[in-house]
Amino acid sequence: MSHVRIHPSILSADFARLGEELAAIETADAAHVDVMDNHFVPNLTWGPAVVERLREVSPVPFDVHLMIEDADRWAPRYAEIGCESVTFHAEAATAPIKLARELRSQGARAGMALRPATPVEPYLDLLPELDLLLVMTVEPGFGGQAFLDVTLPKLRRAAEAIRGSSARVALQVDGGISEATIERAAEAGADVFVAGSSVYGAADRAGAIEGLRGRAAA
Ligand code: DX5
Ligand code: ZN
Repeated sequence: MSHVRIHPSILSADFARLGEELAAIETADAAHVDVMDNHFVPNLTWGPAVVERLREVSPVPFDVHLMIEDADRWAPRYAEIGCESVTFHAEAATAPIKLARELRSQGARAGMALRPATPVEPYLDLLPELDLLLVMTVEPGFGGQAFLDVTLPKLRRAAEAIRGSSARVALQVDGGISEATIERAAEAGADVFVAGSSVYGAADRAGAIEGLRGRAAA
């Protein structure tokens, strides 16, 4: 299997101490930054001004997950402020190919996310346009939800399609990832694991990251 990457989600961090919370995950491969607009999902977080400042103090790259409507308009803004990877939802982008090309031309990695009930098959031709495919393993909107096993067959089909294509696309899972579930997702073919409550809910964040890494590689 390919290299395991752990991306803690700062959605579960202490919002009053975000700078320190980013410093606490310096052993991670990236910080997962959830942007929500209260329209695409029933929750609201932060926008580009806050993310730009956080990026300046973060010791790790930013993996931005946009749970917003009008992704075509806003996603390039996150590449512009220095986010290394920008993921938009397939359900929210009007012109995903154009958008992915724009993000890449800005020097960011282009990611596309699918809600649990969105099939992957209609999007397989887009793999060469993408650097990352995110299969949501909970309904987007909130941290701390239970991993949906019903998404595993889709994850397997996505992994097979990526293996069978010449495109180099990372396969990310997000939602309910813990030491109890990460092996299932890894076995199905995921190689990038977002973990919010299982990292920030632990007193020892570095230990939690190592624990997840070990389980995923097992
Ligand atoms: C949920 C977000 C996730 C969230 C995951 O919509 O996209 O990134 O932070 O949290 P956990 O790991 O607690 O399920
Ligand atoms: Zn997320």
